[in-house]
Amino acid sequence: MVVEGGGVVAVVVVREYDAKKDCKKVEEVENKCEVGPSGKLSLYTDLLGDPICRVRHSPAYIMLVAELVVLGGGVDKERREIVGMIRGCIKTVTCGTKNGNGNGNGKDCATKLALPLPVYTKLAYILGLRVSPSHRRMGIGLQLVRRLEAWFVENGAEYSYMATENDNQASVKLFTQKCGYSKFRTPSILVQPVFAHRIRPDSRVNIIKLNPTEAEPLYRRHFSTTEFFPRDIDSVVKNKLNLGTFLAVPKQSYDAVSWPGIDDFFTNPPDSWAVLSIWNCKDVMTLEVRGASRVRKALAKTTRVMDRALPWLHLPSVPQVFRPFGFHFLYGLGGEGPNAVKFIRALCGLAHNLAKERGCGVVATEVASREPLKLGIPHWKSLSCAEDLWCIKRLGQDYSDGSVGDWTKSPPGLSIFVDPREF
Ligand SMILES: CC(C)(COP(=O)(O)OP(=O)(O)OC[C@H]1O[C@@H](n2cnc3c(N)ncnc32)[C@H](O)[C@@H]1OP(=O)(O)O)[C@@H](O)C(=O)NCCC(=O)NCCS
Repeated sequence: MVVEGGGVVAVVVVREYDAKKDCKKVEEVENKCEVGPSGKLSLYTDLLGDPICRVRHSPAYIMLVAELVVLGGGVDKERREIVGMIRGCIKTVTCGTKNGNGNGNGKDCATKLALPLPVYTKLAYILGLRVSPSHRRMGIGLQLVRRLEAWFVENGAEYSYMATENDNQASVKLFTQKCGYSKFRTPSILVQPVFAHRIRPDSRVNIIKLNPTEAEPLYRRHFSTTEFFPRDIDSVVKNKLNLGTFLAVPKQSYDAVSWPGIDDFFTNPPDSWAVLSIWNCKDVMTLEVRGASRVRKALAKTTRVMDRALPWLHLPSVPQVFRPFGFHFLYGLGGEGPNAVKFIRALCGLAHNLAKERGCGVVATEVASREPLKLGIPHWKSLSCAEDLWCIKRLGQDYSDGSVGDWTKSPPGLSIFVDPREF
């Protein structure tokens, strides 16, 4: 893109991010950019010196920057300024199901259960699109998206999607009106504050920490036909940012000492159980809420002081979110049986207490809008986002999804799997 005037020529060049020379500049732009609508409370991110952190754990990723190059204007030297950036990653995920071949568990031929099998697709994800406030509405965002999509196509992605707040007009219009995306899913981001007091454990529930070699088969068995389930789940649960996968079972079934192992659990599961994993976002980025009035901040502080002084009262206090704060992300929430909701609640209590020990401000998760386990996930409406808007686009015509057809037209399921690597 070239802009000319008054003897000055300005060109916007989109190129790959270079950690050595771009890191500081990119962080400056990131710090200037609010996420979400301006005029209300806005969320700002600090990527702690690693602007690529939100994609670097994905199988394939890239970050592009938009650089403004100004030539002329009476000055000999050219001036270069980073004015925007975008991240993208590609991975293989479940996009639908097909009928199994009649041997459901792979071992017991006598049962011949036709369990559905996952259909996978190569999916690209766009995130962290930012354009410096002083350079908006000049076509830079659009240019960044188009270049990133070209990289997706070169690397074999079949679909591309992005997530934004429903009321982020700039972003919604950019993707739906200019880039051919359609509104696809509206999961809910649920955020629970970390109180100064601990949450009491549920005495009717035992919680067992699974090692990654047990977590992987549990997730594959329970989630492999769930939309967006990553085929490389093993690298997710083994990642150093995964703080653990926890299984809640009834008190009378077994505990950490009598735990029979995952194979016995599959053979003879308790009536109800639930599982979740905790991802450490705190060491990767901090968030900050800006735009709150002094009164609001003072009220929040009062609740914290009270909660700290009288923890046995279990007062719901507002954490310090008006300064940079860290958080944990809960993913892979699932369960079965009549008490699964209760067990998820117990797991969220454990996650809260771990987040408190590790000095986090909030615990967040994201689940499908109709997720049945949502009832067991404690959260504050004021901190949460009821409708996170995911928009999708089909990138090409050669598809491996014959049995599902066009994923962009498929109805939503009850659950989705939100990958913690790109939250
Ligand atoms: C969203 C954002 C990246 C857009 O960048 P941009 O460079 O200003 O966008 P462009 O100039 O390429 O705009 C392309 C189209 O997007 C839409 N658009 C962009 N900004 C808009 C706005 N403020 N209001 C309404 N539509 C807007 C328009 O359709 C526009 O085309 P037009 O100018 O011909 O009408 C930028 O506003 C931003 O950084 N916002 C803060 C961070 C953010 O919310 N990121 C998105 C998270 S996914």
